[in-house]
Amino acid sequence: MGQLLFLLLWGLHKVWGSSDVLQRAFPFHMLQISSFPNSSHVRTDCLAWLGELQTHRWRNESDTIQFLKPWSMGTFSQQQVKQLQQEFLVYRLSVFNDVQKFSKLLKLTYPIELQVFAGCEVHPGNVSESYFHVAFQGSLILSFQGTSYKAAPDVSPKVDVVVQELNKDPGTSAVMQVLMNYTCPQFVRGIIEAGKSDLEKQVKPEAWLSSGPSPGPGRLLLVCRVSGFYPKPVWAKWMRGEQEQPAQQGDILPNADETWHLRVTVDVESKEAAGLSCRVKHSSLGDQDIILYWDGSRIFWIWIWTLVVLGCLLIVGLVCFRRPIWMWLKRHCSYEDIP
Ligand SMILES: *[C@@H]1O[C@H](CO)[C@@H](O)[C@H](O)[C@H]1NC(C)=O
Ligand SMILES: *[C@@H]1O[C@H](CO)[C@@H](O)[C@H](O)[C@H]1NC(C)=O
Repeated sequence: MGQLLFLLLWGLHKVWGSSDVLQRAFPFHMLQISSFPNSSHVRTDCLAWLGELQTHRWRNESDTIQFLKPWSMGTFSQQQVKQLQQEFLVYRLSVFNDVQKFSKLLKLTYPIELQVFAGCEVHPGNVSESYFHVAFQGSLILSFQGTSYKAAPDVSPKVDVVVQELNKDPGTSAVMQVLMNYTCPQFVRGIIEAGKSDLEKQVKPEAWLSSGPSPGPGRLLLVCRVSGFYPKPVWAKWMRGEQEQPAQQGDILPNADETWHLRVTVDVESKEAAGLSCRVKHSSLGDQDIILYWDGSRIFWIWIWTLVVLGCLLIVGLVCFRRPIWMWLKRHCSYEDIP
């Protein structure tokens, strides 16, 4: 894994970004997943995102990194991007070679799943934090910290062999320190600067109420859905007056358009449903909270509509099938039935 270390952060420490004081933190994360079904194959896919927005993708099938946002290059020039692609191709190959080497040395069995999770966050005042973690078969095995690799606590002694091997090469450690201390924070300042308006956009949620499957006789499951908002932090509660009601809040899940959605449900006695409201606060709304009242008559109207639709179907049926129905009636209600 000698070079594993590397390039990850793009080897472009010549790039200097500048930035105003940031209003919010936008951590930059990269995830690399390398799957080795056997000793001769590997599939490597990478994803990177800044705050909540996906910025880069690199598929195994492709020789080029995809820049997913117009500002994903940050302050890079075309020339630097070219160099970057090249370094990544070398890196991808080196991961493959290193894993082959260590699997022989340590008699590891395939399939092997390797994940690298790395990134950094810049804070106001030119302060930054970087991290670089490696997981093997889904468990953290080692990290780069300060000036060297360190094994994670409670791992197999084999990991110590890997760590010792990696730390033997002072060149790798120097490259890692530059990447983590300088390159990553500078790159991230650059893309935050370039992507500021996208990152700081505010998209208002929409909210609506419905009822879910009844949790039991005489009970109602009221569902408040909030969708289409950005950024992610949101506050949504079922209320009675100013009183929060005990409710079940789901995870905040992504929509395809980089906004979020959320479902909050409350299980109540049917007769207590009236007067409940769902209240939503979000930065895009200022102090204009969304408040939706549960209206019991909604259920009444659903019933009316159901009856109307059934009535129409019945009439249509009678009109279209009057002949067969008439025949059937004739056959089954013959004269002898009539006293
Ligand atoms: C931030 O720190 C780096 C070195 O750590 C320095 O080169 C750069 O000029 C600093 N930027 C600002 C805005 O102070
Ligand atoms: C990078 O930062 C670490 C502390 O996190 C420090 O120990 C190390 O000396 C720094 N290396 C360089 C090259 O600045």
